Amino acid sequence: MAERIRVLLTEEEVDAKIQEIGEQISKDYAGQQVHLVCVLKGGSFFMCELAKRITVPVSLDFMSVSSYGSETKSSGVVKIIKDLDEPLKDKNVIVIEDIVDSGRTLSYLLEMLRDRGPKSMKLCTLLDKPERRVIDVKVDYTGFRIPDEFVVGYGLDYDQRYRNLPYIGVVEFD
Ligand code: IMP
Ligand code: MG
Repeated sequence: MAERIRVLLTEEEVDAKIQEIGEQISKDYAGQQVHLVCVLKGGSFFMCELAKRITVPVSLDFMSVSSYGSETKSSGVVKIIKDLDEPLKDKNVIVIEDIVDSGRTLSYLLEMLRDRGPKSMKLCTLLDKPERRVIDVKVDYTGFRIPDEFVVGYGLDYDQRYRNLPYIGVVEFD
């Protein structure tokens, strides 16, 4: 099946928004250190760009989870593929996600990370599809609320492709 990518958010729009979030986080955590937890692979592009724009001290860690299910739907069953390298105890954790869709993956993940005793924990996502929410998750920093369409770019993939697009696009099929 042939597919095309329609631009939803340009590189300039995404960059400007990341700058805004970076400034907000720097303000909110003035005088403190933040520990960014990236959910691989999708959150990696966003986290790198965001980290560059945060002016308080930053440390980083990565984890990888997979939700069993088809390519475009998550089932809610989450498996840890790679855990964090460092403990979260007493840290100001900000979980960085590419997108919150049903909320299933994140609600599981956040609960698990909360058990590790961070000083504080917030959630930051580049994209949010509120219409798709099945489980309520509190998002503290949101880049863009988008309609219920399958998007790629800036870390988001379709069948592992398009993560490297510097903008957000919608996959369209002929
Ligand atoms: P949730 O558990 O349904 O919130 O699923 C979140 C995960 O599903 C994201 O971290 C993405 O990996 C994936 N996902 C959800 N919507 C999209 C999309 O539009 N494009 C690409 N991946 C998506
Ligand atoms: Mg993800």
